[in-house]
Amino acid sequence: MVEGTEGPASDDNRTPQPFEHGQLNSARVYDYLLGGKDNREIDRDMGNELLSRAPELKTLAWFTRSFGIKAVQMAAEAGIRQFIDLGSGIPTSPNVHEVAREIVPSARVVYVDYDPVVHTHCDALLAKPDGVTALLGDVRHPHDILDQLKNRSLIDFGEPVAITLISVLHYVMDSEDPTGIIAAFRDQLAPGSYLAMTHGSLDSAPEILQVLAGTKGTSAQVEFRSATQAEALLAGFELIEPGVVPVQQWLRPDLPDTRMIMLGAIGRKP
Ligand SMILES: C[S@@+](CC[C@H](N)C(=O)[O-])C[C@H]1O[C@@H](n2cnc3c(N)ncnc32)[C@H](O)[C@@H]1O
Repeated sequence: MVEGTEGPASDDNRTPQPFEHGQLNSARVYDYLLGGKDNREIDRDMGNELLSRAPELKTLAWFTRSFGIKAVQMAAEAGIRQFIDLGSGIPTSPNVHEVAREIVPSARVVYVDYDPVVHTHCDALLAKPDGVTALLGDVRHPHDILDQLKNRSLIDFGEPVAITLISVLHYVMDSEDPTGIIAAFRDQLAPGSYLAMTHGSLDSAPEILQVLAGTKGTSAQVEFRSATQAEALLAGFELIEPGVVPVQQWLRPDLPDTRMIMLGAIGRKP
């Protein structure tokens, strides 16, 4: 158990605050696994505890990012010109706008994260070119995000959009209605829109799930789901093959399995 991670899972201590220093933080644990420098000791402790059970986790973090890149490329190649990256995380190159603009140079991209520090990073590092914006927004309040997108004319919902939720939905508890959250976005999307997600799998090794249980009561608290539960989140989208499968299977047939399993899925709104 990582010190300081016990306690009740109230909404207050599960939402990152601007000046908290002692709290475990999902964006910073992920940054550590990706080899970044924007993390603190408590995040590194959790990262190291996970790595001691599954040293291949750093590789999985990069497989997961590669899946996100592939999803953006696939949508851009299908003609999508607008992207919303929900739970965008600490910038790590290549970011969504860099990937999309290689294919669609005028692509509009909105980065959304609920962590004020992540948002500041995204605003400073990513939202420089025209048509690239960073918003502070909580996925658990989809209508607030949709209002910001519409009121500031950042996204034209009359045209198809690609939404990416890469390793975000497992931070949304069942009690917070992840299905309703996806439905709120889906209902606004034009036909031909895409939604790509990765989601931690309940089939991950028990020792990994045990370490993750130590995140309870922090913003890094997770609720991993089965492939069937993850698929249910994409109701109303047509699943693209190979379906809801470990991210490795989206990339190449020869990639190794990992003890933490990250499911990847891409849906298209008919
Ligand atoms: C594991 S990181 C993944 C970052 C990025 N999507 C990537 O793949 O590199 C999870 C991110 O989701 C954000 N996040 C978690 N819950 C969120 C919520 N309810 N609303 C918005 N962002 C959220 C965290 O702040 C963090 O930046």
